[in-house]
Amino acid sequence: MCGIVGYIGSRQAAPVILDGLSRLEYRGYDSAGMAVFDGQRIQMRKAVGRLKVLENLTHGGEAMKGNMGIGHTRWATHGAPSDANSHPHMNAAETIAVVHNGIIENYIPLKKKMVSRGYTFVSETDTEVLAHLLDYYYKGNPLEAITKVLHRVEGSYALGILFADHPDEIYAVRKDSPLIVGTSSDGCFIASDVPAILKYTRTVYYVENQEVVRLGKDGMRFFSVDEEEISKEPVTIDWDANAAEKAGYEHFMLKEMYEQPKTITDTISPRIQDDTVVIDELQMTDGELSAVKRLHIVACGSAYHAGVTGKYVLEGLARIPVEVDLASEFRYRDPLMGEGSLVIVISQSGETADTLAALRESQARGYKVLGIVNVVGSSIAREADACMYTWAGPEIAVATTKAYSAQLAALYLLAIKFGLARGTIDSDRAAGLIRDLRRLPDQIELLLGQKEKIQRFANRYVGARDIFFIGRGIDYAISLEGSLKLKEISYVHSEAYAAGELKHGTISLIEDGTLVVAVSTQPKLYQKTISNIVEVKARGAFVMAVTNEENKPMEKVSDYCVYLPETNPYFANSLAIIPLQLFGYYVAVGKGCDVDKPRNLAKSVTVE
Ligand code: G6P
Repeated sequence: MCGIVGYIGSRQAAPVILDGLSRLEYRGYDSAGMAVFDGQRIQMRKAVGRLKVLENLTHGGEAMKGNMGIGHTRWATHGAPSDANSHPHMNAAETIAVVHNGIIENYIPLKKKMVSRGYTFVSETDTEVLAHLLDYYYKGNPLEAITKVLHRVEGSYALGILFADHPDEIYAVRKDSPLIVGTSSDGCFIASDVPAILKYTRTVYYVENQEVVRLGKDGMRFFSVDEEEISKEPVTIDWDANAAEKAGYEHFMLKEMYEQPKTITDTISPRIQDDTVVIDELQMTDGELSAVKRLHIVACGSAYHAGVTGKYVLEGLARIPVEVDLASEFRYRDPLMGEGSLVIVISQSGETADTLAALRESQARGYKVLGIVNVVGSSIAREADACMYTWAGPEIAVATTKAYSAQLAALYLLAIKFGLARGTIDSDRAAGLIRDLRRLPDQIELLLGQKEKIQRFANRYVGARDIFFIGRGIDYAISLEGSLKLKEISYVHSEAYAAGELKHGTISLIEDGTLVVAVSTQPKLYQKTISNIVEVKARGAFVMAVTNEENKPMEKVSDYCVYLPETNPYFANSLAIIPLQLFGYYVAVGKGCDVDKPRNLAKSVTVE
């Protein structure tokens, strides 16, 4: 969601900025722009639509001369996607340019004040207020102007800022929106995320809340919001830039689906020792684990769906009550928590605004928060009291697949760990569960091998209007994620229903030929789901069943069956989700959709 790239150094800035922005496209955006200082003045170009438009407008950046600049891909919040609303925004004299990711929450009173001071606004954005505020407070010292503005704005922001009369420096600052800076022998960089600058450097600094960075041609300096200089340690990025490339796959999403076996292995292997689960990052003794009385799992999107599965697995194996909340609800619902409550926040990006707010809300109430996070060094990873990383590597496609699978694996490990500590499972049972966990990667490989079969089936549903997903228990949790995958990338309307709830409304939507995807992986519930299938078939539905090999009666009642290899029912989600991801993917491909960058969506939702 919004991408920022800035550069100052010996190279021409615009091509570097465009290249960086192209690596942030996965975050989601609807317009793009750049401001470059050409030695005399700040040149600015903006364009609605794909980055390609801006590239064409500037001949790949070549037409914009100069060695320092800032660029932005915008995901519209305040004001429609338009040239005027695109970033950068400038003061009237065009001597200060700013790009922004986040939301300035008090921009309305600030805007009123600036209008009364004689400032004219040309966009509908909250960001423009920053350009005018900087202009108002700027008396020749950029750092002083920036910190004065920071003291007056509320909300979240990551900013890149240029001052025309300081041609040897650019500025970066953040609060609650992601931002990193990097340094190399031929210049310094600002970026929303590491992949944007990985081609140029592996030496990065994670900018903390309300830190200001002054980047020059040969180095950078860090300051607090009170203008005091601070020292920071760089981090060396050790993952491969290829991890963020398509490697011959048609889409990142397909590549990332194929990475799921490795992702699961990477997430579980370091935490299994001598047939038991060891999660050092928890920093909790068995005594402390068994003293936990209630878990609160909080997340958004697919991470929330992983949490719904986690509830079934943790309650089943560790017999501990689990509440699962959408972060946007949790943060405002004044949740009842008490002695022994432990909060688990789950997030791929580690930057989702609502999840981060839920974490802070929990900590403010005095509760310990465990993060299950993919992006190393992200805000949630740093602010959580303990952090369990999912080792999925960079995920680029907006629709998550491998990070979701890694989140499930992390939750299974936690459930075994809690179960052992609380004595609800013994070491033999744990060893059996661990055996099943270790088999998951090969079993997923096998299911991925069925992609052509699923593609043929998906092609029949390219024109579908509605598709329903049903299941009970964990199968309901799988349905939620299967339905989300389909709708977010293919734009086919889809809903997931607890199969037993069908009769209370949804069944009236079933017409001749409506596709119903029935997930049935829980032996205890086979018969119940079969009854629901019979009910929808009687109303004309075409039924695709995703079930276990042993559940042969399913063949008689459904029209198309995908069989799953045998695993412990608690881990069935990890297998059943594979054909559903493939199905959603191939419906979207068949429709010619932009699979990796679906309209209106963002990879990392850094605003509320
Ligand atoms: C966005 C993404 C989803 C993701 C959700 C939560 O909506 O498109 O794939 O599940 O945010 O993101 P997080 O980074 O917190 O897991």
